Amino acid sequence: MAGRVGILTGGGDCPGLNAVIRSAVRSGAFVHGQEFVGYRDGWRGLVEGNRYDLPPEAVRGILHRGGTILGTSGANPLAIEGGVEAIRSTITRDGLDGVIAIGGEGTLGAAARLAGEDGIPIAGVPKTIDNDLALTDFTIGFHTAVQVASDAVDRLHSTAESHNRVMVVEVMGRHAGWIAAYAGLSGGADAILIPERPFDIEAVCARLRARHEAGISFSVVMVAEGAVPVQGTMRLPEPELDENGFPRFGGVSVPIAAAIETATGFETRVTILGHVQRGGSPVAFDRVLGTRLGAAVVDLCAEGVWGRMATLFQGEIIDVPLADAVAERKVVPSAFLGRAKVFFG
Ligand code: F6P
Repeated sequence: MAGRVGILTGGGDCPGLNAVIRSAVRSGAFVHGQEFVGYRDGWRGLVEGNRYDLPPEAVRGILHRGGTILGTSGANPLAIEGGVEAIRSTITRDGLDGVIAIGGEGTLGAAARLAGEDGIPIAGVPKTIDNDLALTDFTIGFHTAVQVASDAVDRLHSTAESHNRVMVVEVMGRHAGWIAAYAGLSGGADAILIPERPFDIEAVCARLRARHEAGISFSVVMVAEGAVPVQGTMRLPEPELDENGFPRFGGVSVPIAAAIETATGFETRVTILGHVQRGGSPVAFDRVLGTRLGAAVVDLCAEGVWGRMATLFQGEIIDVPLADAVAERKVVPSAFLGRAKVFFG
């Protein structure tokens, strides 16, 4: 069986994207005899027909590399005038059977709409450090981000202890606190604030005071960038909007740290990890997951099965409708919080 398949990476980058590209191109070529065409910078490349050939030699030596060799952007083809028609023309011009879109909620949301209403042959692979896509156990990039954040908590512990300080460390996670929950637990943070569970700053301060009264004069507070206070307890500044009109997160830890210092009198410092969590080499888990999903998605392409996403779900590599994967967000469930509640502020 042969065929020609396009491939793009969209939205924020993350470690493990190159593992998917490498695996798709290798498995596709060797198992199905497929050829691959890469499109630059997400949907924009497909709309503009900005492409280059991806023979197996082109994906040599990229497994351990962070980022994406294809480039990425947040371009939304549905917001570009004539975008859908331009994608159809690119697919016809380049003789593609279909396109693999590797992305998070924005990229795969567009993929679901294009594959559904517009009938364009697209298959998806889930990636985002935020781990917030439905019908996935884990998204590509999440484990690397957790490792980076967990290592940071370890480092902050020692300096916090030396100086008898409270360290407030902020990680990504706009609507879901997966990174904060995992890195907070693995690093032994003393309070973990996530969007799913509004925090009471007084309760957080009470916890820190109790530690001090017990003779422990330092603490680490883990904060997801989308953490929200219980209504009426604390005012946080509204996030600025980005060029697409979406809130730009980052910085919530600054007023939280100020409130802690004022209420407790403990010297408090802020660390915002930011894009460090998205950069660099993927951990082994993300390399393996990317490799497995890359091989799975080219099977879908070879069978002509479009509008679906290859995913690790309940421990198995399966495929699910793209529309279902983006229908709702996967947030940290209350059972996870309940069992670990002693660790959350
Ligand atoms: O989707 C992943 C994510 O890392 C979010 O948690 C974060 O708010 C956002 O991307 C930031 O992306 P950028 O700075 O690239 O717009």
